[in-house]
Order: sequence, then structure tokens, then C-alpha cells
Amino acid sequence: MSLIGIIGAMEEEVSALKEQMTEVSVTKKAGMEFCRGMLNGKPVVVVRSGIGKVNAGICTQILVDDYHVDCVINTGIAGSLKSVIDIGDIVVSTDTVQHDMNAVGFGYPLGQIPRMDTLAFPADQKLIELACQVCREVNPEIQVYAGRVVSGDQFVSDKESKERIKTNFDGFCTEMEGAAIAQAAYLNGIPYVVLRAISDKADDSATVDYPAFEREAIRHCVNLVLNMVKKL
Ligand code: ADE
Repeated sequence: MSLIGIIGAMEEEVSALKEQMTEVSVTKKAGMEFCRGMLNGKPVVVVRSGIGKVNAGICTQILVDDYHVDCVINTGIAGSLKSVIDIGDIVVSTDTVQHDMNAVGFGYPLGQIPRMDTLAFPADQKLIELACQVCREVNPEIQVYAGRVVSGDQFVSDKESKERIKTNFDGFCTEMEGAAIAQAAYLNGIPYVVLRAISDKADDSATVDYPAFEREAIRHCVNLVLNMVKKL
């Protein structure tokens, strides 16, 4: 890969990566700081998109238009949608769906964006395989799962919302940016993958667990991204 775009929604998710970068030059656009430089010997652009699907989509398009990135990696944390996937574990996206897209009244399946030719945005197979392999090597104390990441502009923190999302989309975890990054990547024809460490169970315990486990979850993702870029 000649240039890798790395997006995290929050500063906490990208600061450790930025600290490891060399030859850094920073450009501001749309309220975001795009940090271009070298990470573990590879050219990267690391950026904090801000939270939510719109910020994530704008950020990805800037990476495409202004930097011509060859792929996009989204790193961060998420709420688990499966009881087997524990806090600290990592989910690697096989595909992504937007759980808050609802044009059912227009005759589209729940989650499908009208007049787009796909319900889910498939992640890149090589990036998926590499992420899973590297994660097992560098984070042996946790489990890594490859599966669907479900995104929406909602912090999921009640049982009913979690059950609804689980039933409708059969996702492995839920967060607020991945499928928007995926949509922008899909429209621009570039490969992407979402890497999410679990900070909570996306139910009534989420508001307590999230701040308690955020830091530990982020550490696993940072470790994965740092080692993954080396092999790209
Ligand atoms: N990111 C981390 N946990 C989340 C949750 N429960 N819902 C949405 N985004 C999240």
C-alpha cells in the first residue's frame, strides 16, 4: 500500500498512533487535523473524524480527494452484540450496515440506502485476513472475531435497542462510524476494514462499562493497527 488512511472517531482512539509517527505534517480541513507521516515504516494519514456517520463520511472523502489514500482502516471501540464477544475482544468487519437507515416505506429492506445497489458494504478480504492474523499474534490474551459491524447515530445503551439491532441485522458489534466510512470507500472504489475493540455490551450496563473499559479496549486496537501497517 503506498498510502494508508487511518480514521478514529475520538482523539483517544488516534493519539497513541500519532505519538508513534515520524515526519509528520498536519493539515486542517472540515474541523479535522489530517496527520500525514510515517508509522512503523509505512506512509499513513491519521485523522480524528469526530463522532457519527456524517463526520466519518466527510473524513473519508477528504482522505480520498486530498490524499488519494489506497485503503482506509477505521479503528476504535464498539458495543458487543453477541454474548460470546467480551469486553476487550476485537471485531474485524466482514461487512458493515447502517442500522438507522429506514426506507421500508419505499419498499427497501431495513438498512438499505435507497437507490444504492447494496444493503451491506463488504470489507476487503486481504485486510480482514491480515487483521485477524496480526491480532492473534500481538493480542494473544483476547479473542478476535470476523463479522458484521452495524453502525448508526446512536450510542446503544438499552436492552430493547440492542435486541432490535441484533434481530434486524445479526451484527457482531455496534458503533457510530464504520458503515459510513465503508459507504464512502465503496463509492470511491477503495478497500477498507473496520477494527473495533469492545468497550461495553451495548445494553443497560453500557454507560458504566464504557468509561471503565474504554482505555483498555483502545490499547488492543492501537496494538493491532501498529503491527498491521507494518505488513501492508
Ligand atoms: N461505541 C462504543 N460502545 C458503543 C455503543 N454501545 N453504542 C454505539 N457506539 C459505541
